[in-house]
Amino acid sequence: MSSTNDFTKLTIAKEVRGRLQEEFPSLMALAATPPAEVMKRCEVSKSSAERAVNQARKIIGMNQPTTAASLLKKELDRPRITTSSQSLDDILGGGITVGSITEFSGAFATGKTQISFQLCLNVQRSVEDGGLAGKALFLDTENTFAPARVAEMAYSYTDDPSEYLQNILVSRAYNTDHQIQLIDKADKILEKNNIRLIIIDSMASHFRAEFPGKENLPRRQQTLMAHAETLQRLAESYNLAIITTNQILSNPDNLFSGANNLEPALGFAWGHRPTHRILLRKSRGTARIARIFDSPELAEREAVYHITPQGIRDGPPLDY
Ligand code: GTP
Ligand code: MG
Repeated sequence: MSSTNDFTKLTIAKEVRGRLQEEFPSLMALAATPPAEVMKRCEVSKSSAERAVNQARKIIGMNQPTTAASLLKKELDRPRITTSSQSLDDILGGGITVGSITEFSGAFATGKTQISFQLCLNVQRSVEDGGLAGKALFLDTENTFAPARVAEMAYSYTDDPSEYLQNILVSRAYNTDHQIQLIDKADKILEKNNIRLIIIDSMASHFRAEFPGKENLPRRQQTLMAHAETLQRLAESYNLAIITTNQILSNPDNLFSGANNLEPALGFAWGHRPTHRILLRKSRGTARIARIFDSPELAEREAVYHITPQGIRDGPPLDY
């Protein structure tokens, strides 16, 4: 797929082009957006929006099928972010991938937030060191972002963690509407700051609190789906990784989830959005166990990792 950023290739009115260019940082971002959304965001007519999106899709080459061979090559070449645990990286096929959503679910204190902190640092490392030389955007819905803890982890890489902290942009999301708005308006921030990782910690808290009970389920699913679609578009348009964290529920009808019939919250419809789903559970002491729950390309394997003072590691802390 050829990527180009030349908006002048669009044969549309100059004024429309100007508005599109103001709203979308790349032709890829435009091509991946539904015309109805383009219409709303750029305040252009339906026909202009459709014309622009269709042309952008053609220019990008989005309407041509790709061979499985080139998809495999792309898959193998896809950059990854290390978790700082070799065993966790192994079951993930080498680390967290860009272009898709990876979900970590688990009970409290299983390490969802600690893994997120570790990834915010690791994404900044060079490619040789398991990073993407980019920055992180952390959407904090539970007010649990802990800069001092992130700094403590960063000391493994540097004597002065301030540069690492400088490259983590934190937004506190106060409710679902605010969370959605922050993501909907993220294009420019992502582009300007070379963001290669978005964390939403957690995806579940506001959605579950604001849409309780069965009667609110359809509305919750609808809102969640639109949000997930935007996230997926951002992941692909900016070649970045997205991590969402989720709570877990006990579902007695679930025969596939193993011990205690535990499964991620947020239901069936959301369940199809993350490409990779990982269930975390506690083990002894600092040990935690991660299991691939649902992934089209990863086998259902388990890995043990530890939450140490230095961050996520394969083994327990030395003084443990
Ligand atoms: P919830 O958000 O409550 O659902 O849990 P979570 O899965 O996000 O848990 P989190 O990632 O916050 O992990 C909490 C665990 O990490 C604690 O039980 C501690 O074992 C460990 N932990 C948290 N902060 C520190 C720290 O500063 N140092 C060390 N060594 N461990 C920590
Ligand atoms: Mg947490």
